[in-house]
Amino acid sequence: MPDSAPASPPSATYPSHSSTMVKAVVLGAAGGIGQPLSLLLKTNPLITQLGLFDIVNTPGVAADLSHIATPSVVVGRLPPNDGLKEVLTGADLVVIPAGVPRKPGMTRDDLFKINAGIVKDLATGIATVAPKAFVLVISNPVNSTVPIVAEVFKKHGVYDPKRIFGVTTLDVVRASTFVAEVLGKPAEAPNVVVPVIGGHSGVTIVPLLSQSTHALPSDISADAYAALVKRIQFGGDEVVKAKDGAGSATLSMAYAGYEFSTKIIRALKGEKGIIAPSYVSLKADPAGGSALAAELGTELEFFSSNVELGTEGVVKIHSLGKLTAQEQELVKAAIPELQTNIKTGVTFVAEKY
Ligand code: NAD
Ligand code: LMR
Repeated sequence: MPDSAPASPPSATYPSHSSTMVKAVVLGAAGGIGQPLSLLLKTNPLITQLGLFDIVNTPGVAADLSHIATPSVVVGRLPPNDGLKEVLTGADLVVIPAGVPRKPGMTRDDLFKINAGIVKDLATGIATVAPKAFVLVISNPVNSTVPIVAEVFKKHGVYDPKRIFGVTTLDVVRASTFVAEVLGKPAEAPNVVVPVIGGHSGVTIVPLLSQSTHALPSDISADAYAALVKRIQFGGDEVVKAKDGAGSATLSMAYAGYEFSTKIIRALKGEKGIIAPSYVSLKADPAGGSALAAELGTELEFFSSNVELGTEGVVKIHSLGKLTAQEQELVKAAIPELQTNIKTGVTFVAEKY
């Protein structure tokens, strides 16, 4: 074949779907998160089909990834000719990093105007074509975009709260890294596990440092503790500032999104006892959800907590456990913003659908 021959064509078709196969789909696959996340998914031997959708560049991204010698067949599609429908058909897992990222000076809520419509349209596609898929929402503001997906699914009569997840893993990844730094043990970072609960923006991000696998120094000062909490809550701003107008976290997010996707796939394959933090509907586990609401002292439709995963999605929502007085204050501060964010998402679908 001459050197100038075209790379393997992006017109590859999928083998027919069966239960031994796992089809993962990325919506927004050509973006800053979408490309490295798609690369990581391509390396997963459990995935047999990888569907990539974006409004630009997916044929090229798919052709590039398709040369990697791993089991999955990769297909990239654009909107024309039912590209979204084709990519979503037979999906087991759909990850959504589609939408605009922040620039310095913006909050995640400032992205709502654009991203709400994008997520609503993509959720409509999933509800229509792959209503049983596990949906993993990365697009910000996650506190509001997850309720949007839920409301769209309700409108289509296919809502299963066990299958819709807001991806908050990056907060947990950051907490591990920053705690290891405070301990002066960066090599320990992969082993540090800190539950991070609440939501995914500013004060709604609540690290439970008292439940860290690696205790903080007993003599940590109040200022150092406050600085650590703040860094975990506003870690996203650190990246937005450093990128200086070129977007927000993409590589660490791809890592975190892949980590969460892997747990979902292992659960889908029947592995038991997999626990991951995620922003889910408290109705996903009515008993666990009620217990959590009682701990919070209020009804909230969505909250991020450790959840146990199974073949059908959420199996159990874990309780918060014993909180320190400082952590109770952080939870108290998170609740009003979460309530507002959730309402914003629900109202958007009620008014625009
Ligand atoms: P990006 O601009 O680099 O990529 C977004 C991609 O979405 C682009 O390729 C764009 O073409 C695509 N897109 C836009 N509209 C679309 C549509 N209707 N259908 C399909 N694709 C569409 O942005 P990014 O840096 O990858 O960030 C994406 C989103 O993820 C942002 O909203 C960002 O705030 C969010 N994010 C969330 C977390 C988290 O922890 N949950 C972390 C980082 C970023
Ligand atoms: C993050 O936490 O890095 C993301 O939510 C992106 C952002 O806007 O900060």
